[in-house]
Amino acid sequence: MSASLTLTSDTTAGAGNPQLQRFFSLTKQAMADKSLQRLLLTKYQGPKDELQRLLISPVEIKSELRWRFVWQYQTNHQTENYPADEAGRLLTELLPAHFKAGQLSTETSEVQLTISKKGKALLNVKKAIASQKPDISHNRQKQRFVEQSRPFLSALGVTDTHGQLIPAMTNKWKQINKFIEILQGAVKDTGLLQATQLHVADFGSGKAYLTFAMHDYFCHTLNLQAQITGVELRQNLVDLCNETASALNLTGLRFEQGDVKHFKTRGINVMVALHACDIATDYAINMGIRTGAEIIMCSPCCHKEIRPQIRLPEVMAPMLVHGIHLGQEAEMVTDSLRALLLEAHGYQTKVFEFISLEHTSKNKMILATRRKKVHDNSAVLQQIDAIKQFYGIKQQCLEQLLLAKPQG
Ligand SMILES: C[S@@+](CC[C@H](N)C(=O)[O-])C[C@H]1O[C@@H](n2cnc3c(N)ncnc32)[C@H](O)[C@@H]1O
Repeated sequence: MSASLTLTSDTTAGAGNPQLQRFFSLTKQAMADKSLQRLLLTKYQGPKDELQRLLISPVEIKSELRWRFVWQYQTNHQTENYPADEAGRLLTELLPAHFKAGQLSTETSEVQLTISKKGKALLNVKKAIASQKPDISHNRQKQRFVEQSRPFLSALGVTDTHGQLIPAMTNKWKQINKFIEILQGAVKDTGLLQATQLHVADFGSGKAYLTFAMHDYFCHTLNLQAQITGVELRQNLVDLCNETASALNLTGLRFEQGDVKHFKTRGINVMVALHACDIATDYAINMGIRTGAEIIMCSPCCHKEIRPQIRLPEVMAPMLVHGIHLGQEAEMVTDSLRALLLEAHGYQTKVFEFISLEHTSKNKMILATRRKKVHDNSAVLQQIDAIKQFYGIKQQCLEQLLLAKPQG
């Protein structure tokens, strides 16, 4: 494995600017002794519209050390992996020309670089405080549902090349574990442990941390023959995830570019849609129900459909006149209708906190498992009608999709 980034601090980079030279030299050292956890460049002043920050971290791909560059734009992220020499060349091009600040985090230190308007570099070196280091002993004591040493975690930048948690990814790590814990319970409840073949679809897979985690859970932990498909609107994320899956030699995991609204598939056992925007969640649930999925898991976000329809009952007007309350009410009504519609279509449904608010604000999970016996749904249908009437709701996407004739 090639170890260090080729930084040119000893030749041209930072020449005439001793503090900048020192920053390059500390970076080079941290890379060489593999103590570098992350390098964050901020205060972008270059030509790319909407680029805000660049996060660089080590990642091991096919036993080769690569440097992962995550370009953080206002509305999306782009990820590229570079070999050491290319990464080094880029870094010395970018700093100080385009980025005016950098934060180097190593196992033992935090180094803050600031470039003044006149181009003068200021450096502040501090010892890493305990909470910024990966707390491995603490993590080992807790029950984890994913092994921290699994290669996909390092390939996705959750852990470093030694399998140590990257501090900035702590929340993602917690989310992955919580997600697999919930999935594990549902798999046991539905008897899917006995399945010989399994098809899982993840709609709006994004950067696919949870899609890779599901693949690892089904194919590695449970040793089942599973086919996991991530469906994602953005082609660049699809390409990146397919490249990562093939770099890790993972069979049974693939990503397809597509819109859940038009996607056609059959025979899904587990349908997942996590943080799929607005009514994309309804399309995903509809697909899960229609293909007879044993498990449907979704964590809805951006509830736009119901809010403009809500007619304020007089007594609630002083409460819902506040936009934040109206938004919360609309979200609760939307997800309650989804949960009830799932119940009406033969699922046992729970709505609960996915992970606590301190980790992410998108924290609700709707978990539905298919009932083995037919259930009388007349009472639930009446409840749905009553709620719609109470709030004056004329249209709910999932309900309409379920009423529509199946296509094809
Ligand atoms: C907030 S991200 C969530 C990613 C991932 N599921 C997670 O929870 O970490 C939502 C993703 O859904 C994708 N998306 C939104 N609408 C979609 C649609 N109609 N069809 C497919 N993907 C969609 C977006 O491009 C984005 O990558």
